[in-house]
Amino acid sequence: MHDLFCVLLFVLFVVVGGTTKNVLFIISDDLRPQLGDYKELNLGPSFTPNLDKLAGKSLLMKRAYVQCALCSPSRTSFLTGRRPDTTHVYDLRHYFRDVGGNFTTMPQYFKNNGYRSVGMGKIFHPGMHASHNDDPISWNEFYHLEEDYGVKAHRSSWRTVSKAERLKDPLVDELVVAQAKKSLNELAKGKQPFFLAVGFRRPHLPFLFPEEYLADYPTTRIQIPGNDYAPIDMPEIAWNKYMELISYNDIAALNVTGNLNTTLPDQIVKDLRRAYFSSVTFMDAMVGEVLAELMKLNLMNDTIISFIGDHGYSLGEHGLWGKNTNFEDAVHAPMMVRVPGLTDHGVVTNKLVEFVDLFPTIVEAAGFPKLPLCPQRSTQVSLCTEGKSLISLMSDPDAPWKQAVFSQYRRRSNVMGYSIKTDRYRYTEWVRFSGAPNYKADISQVIGRELYDHVNDYQENINLADHHDKVSIVATLRQTLHAGWRPIHFHTDLIGK
Ligand SMILES: *[C@@H]1O[C@H](CO)[C@@H](O)[C@H](O)[C@H]1NC(C)=O
Ligand SMILES: *[C@@H]1O[C@H](CO)[C@@H](O)[C@H](O)[C@H]1NC(C)=O
Ligand SMILES: *[C@@H]1O[C@H](CO)[C@@H](O)[C@H](O)[C@H]1NC(C)=O
Ligand SMILES: *[C@@H]1O[C@H](CO)[C@@H](O)[C@H](O)[C@H]1NC(C)=O
Repeated sequence: MHDLFCVLLFVLFVVVGGTTKNVLFIISDDLRPQLGDYKELNLGPSFTPNLDKLAGKSLLMKRAYVQCALCSPSRTSFLTGRRPDTTHVYDLRHYFRDVGGNFTTMPQYFKNNGYRSVGMGKIFHPGMHASHNDDPISWNEFYHLEEDYGVKAHRSSWRTVSKAERLKDPLVDELVVAQAKKSLNELAKGKQPFFLAVGFRRPHLPFLFPEEYLADYPTTRIQIPGNDYAPIDMPEIAWNKYMELISYNDIAALNVTGNLNTTLPDQIVKDLRRAYFSSVTFMDAMVGEVLAELMKLNLMNDTIISFIGDHGYSLGEHGLWGKNTNFEDAVHAPMMVRVPGLTDHGVVTNKLVEFVDLFPTIVEAAGFPKLPLCPQRSTQVSLCTEGKSLISLMSDPDAPWKQAVFSQYRRRSNVMGYSIKTDRYRYTEWVRFSGAPNYKADISQVIGRELYDHVNDYQENINLADHHDKVSIVATLRQTLHAGWRPIHFHTDLIGK
């Protein structure tokens, strides 16, 4: 009955004059901005022709930040349009409908509004936190796809996979592409517009990819990061022992500890970086296949396309590996949104944007009324957002915009690292935090502070938080951080430039 009502509403909406566009929502797992279009970041070689081409027809957001550098908290945040302190998802164990509220997600919104909502691969972080179920209420159809190489490969952190092996046992992203093509063909025939979410696994560990991709990365081009040490004067709480990488047998066999200021052997660093880069190019090729199918079906002009990585990734910078920190390497991720008719010639913005901005953007791009801003407490509010639609940046990439972005990472269950980035600085404060049911930060109990000056030190190699000449900027940023995202959302004048 409810479904029927939604379809009727939708029909009314179309008749009254809205044009409907489909949505293709693509996520890559653990992808930092390792794309051709982000060369200025000097992250190492990137060969991503398909994503570069898509970026050329999109709003490319050069400075997009996740709200938490970990899969489930980040995905939960951008899929609900709310921040981790609202979803209460800070780890891989909890499910927002249990601990945050019964929120309407992005795919669910489109499903409720007459779209066919179809998902595949990794969209919500599957497993315990989503009741082992990929959040069924969000979808009309969901395809949970897995590869079994992880086990078969004896938990090796990376390896190439031959054509013969793949014919027998395709890599998960090949299964995702096959399903995406099949679904697109079905959806193209249907009468309903669609929201199709395609979640690729690579470049997530283990770095498994077809062997030919190594050829794009000759070993002579692979370098060790220049800053393979912890930032000077970094508080220990900022560090993450990269246990995820160490859990692979080949890395564990090296007897590495993951401790502060230790590094992996040079050759291992190079091998891992090369394997990550190759995995990125493989994922790029998979995205290319989905886009080619969309083109073949003549749906390009009717489809909004969003592409993101779910958070950043350290590949030996600071001696760190993976996510789970508040460093730039972990919270900065690629983001592009293509809206036919608005971004056809490509628009690049350097404005500071956040992943919570995606949900309101895609809703507005599809022609629906703007999502309401969430009230201070929104546990009981099923539909609202804590982000801001990016549509205005599509016609004017220099339009007045938010002057800061926020990320956070919970460490050891009782410490929260709150981080703010402005045009020039990153300021992070690690404070005591009590979990359920209060979820309260005690800002009087500071365990560590970090200040990085991105103009002089974009790699974040020197923590300036205790430098005498930084007292006033620390005070300003501290106040802005504590005031939170809401004032920033409404005021575009500069705070702590
Ligand atoms: C959550 O909301 C949906 C409608 O959006 C409703 O069908 C469902 O019963 C709700 N679940 C709970 C536990 O309240
Ligand atoms: C880590 O190494 C750097 C560079 O050698 C040094 O400046 C820094 O103090 C070290 N950090 C710790 C906590 O030992
Ligand atoms: C790791 O430790 C084990 C047990 O102490 C030892 O047998 C092995 O040789 C060590 N491996 C390396 C690479 O140091
Ligand atoms: C798609 O839109 C572009 C730009 O508006 C236009 O040039 C092109 O002809 C359209 N293609 C189709 C197949 O309608």
